[in-house]
Amino acid sequence: MTGAFGRMKAWLQRTSLYRSIVRTPPPDSPRGRAMKSFGNVFLHLYPVRVPRALLRFRSTWRMGFISSVLFAILFVTGVYLMFFYTPAITMAYGDMQRIRTEVGFGQLIRNVHRWGAHLMVIAVVLHLVRVFLDGAYKAPRQFNWVIGVLLLLVTLAYSFTGYLLPWDQLAYWAVTVGSDLVDYVPVVGGDLRAFLLGGNVIGQATLLRFYVIHVAVLTIAFFLLMAVHLWRVRKDGLALAEAPMARGAGERVSGDAMAQDEAVVVEGSRAAVLETEPREGARVLGTVATKGGTGNPRDPADEVFTWPHLILRHQVVALAVTALVLAMGIAFEAPLRELANPEVTPDPSKAPWYFVGIQELLAHFDPLVAGVLVPGVLVGALLVLPWVDRNPSRRPEDRRMALAVFWLILGAFVILTVIGALFRGPGWGFVLPWVELHLEI
Ligand code: HEM
Repeated sequence: MTGAFGRMKAWLQRTSLYRSIVRTPPPDSPRGRAMKSFGNVFLHLYPVRVPRALLRFRSTWRMGFISSVLFAILFVTGVYLMFFYTPAITMAYGDMQRIRTEVGFGQLIRNVHRWGAHLMVIAVVLHLVRVFLDGAYKAPRQFNWVIGVLLLLVTLAYSFTGYLLPWDQLAYWAVTVGSDLVDYVPVVGGDLRAFLLGGNVIGQATLLRFYVIHVAVLTIAFFLLMAVHLWRVRKDGLALAEAPMARGAGERVSGDAMAQDEAVVVEGSRAAVLETEPREGARVLGTVATKGGTGNPRDPADEVFTWPHLILRHQVVALAVTALVLAMGIAFEAPLRELANPEVTPDPSKAPWYFVGIQELLAHFDPLVAGVLVPGVLVGALLVLPWVDRNPSRRPEDRRMALAVFWLILGAFVILTVIGALFRGPGWGFVLPWVELHLEI
């Protein structure tokens, strides 16, 4: 680093205050950078080295990482809210009011939790879009795609169950509209709805069920699925256009090897060998995969150390996401309507925005088709996609059909959502949002 900024940094690093806090200078040797990864439990989520292409925003849009950051924010703010919230229909609404007015930073934390949840739904969907466009669901990543679809369902379930917790009119009726759809599932619909609600109507049992599912069941599911998801990303490598990410045994170089700053690479095998043997003054420390998950050869010359290159970018993204949700939390208040009242149905009564596309479909088709078949077929299609699309190529020019179908479905979904969220008013009649806005979020 040169120039005024570089000189200022050098001066700062010489001050006794700085040296009393940061005792060892940041490593600038390959060995030191690799040791950063070896010596940090969280950096073990990453390989030691990554293809240079991964530093570009285009490579992943950072959407998987952004989803993870949003989850972390939701987890921390959610735990804070739990201290002040009781899942009882006689208490919940009052607790929400107290969180807004009496609890320290309560309103801000609640706002951040709410806007963060909406952003997470968007980020996860964008992550899915990126993964699809890059054909990253194809071999060998079919299994991880399925794990991803389950994570998407968990994210939606998080938002949906959380929606009920404030126990206001918005919560009560959005969940009523949503859970009524379950009724249309053939044969088991009624039982399924009763199981979900803990009875025939939304009441105390529903609130407790949604709360337990929201804070415990989905959290356990999320952590388990994420562990498998990230493990598969490490094992399969990332489906980058330019070069695959170093995979499992491939990128592993033992601490011992780094101590000698030398590793002898034997090509042709993917298995790491534990046995070492002397060879012309050097030792064979292991073997590396010469092919990545995509079948492209790895090019060590085009790789960079994860620390600091990728980590720095991830830190910037994490800070930007945190700043964005904080700014949204300060600028916009999360809604809290009147206390839930089963006797008074608001008009319009809208499902949460990510389900409002289905509600719009309901206005045109039979509930069995719009409420059950369409979403069921969509989720089913996502789950079996890697086995239905047998075309091995990930290049867009070889996948025109798959891309056309994908854009068509995504486009229809977005249009239906926008119509339902913005252009529908009382009696589900058509309104212009700039004349009267009935957006429920
Ligand atoms: C809570 C939701 C999710 C989180 C936190 C998450 C996180 C991540 C992260 C951190 C990565 C590494 C690369 C990147 O940032 O893109 C990744 C990769 C991947 N994710 Fe997700 N993910 C989620 C949901 C999904 C969904 C909905 C799908 C698809 C249905 C999916 C499929 C994949 C696949 C196939 C990869 C490997 C991509 C490649 O090789 O380029 N994930 N995910």
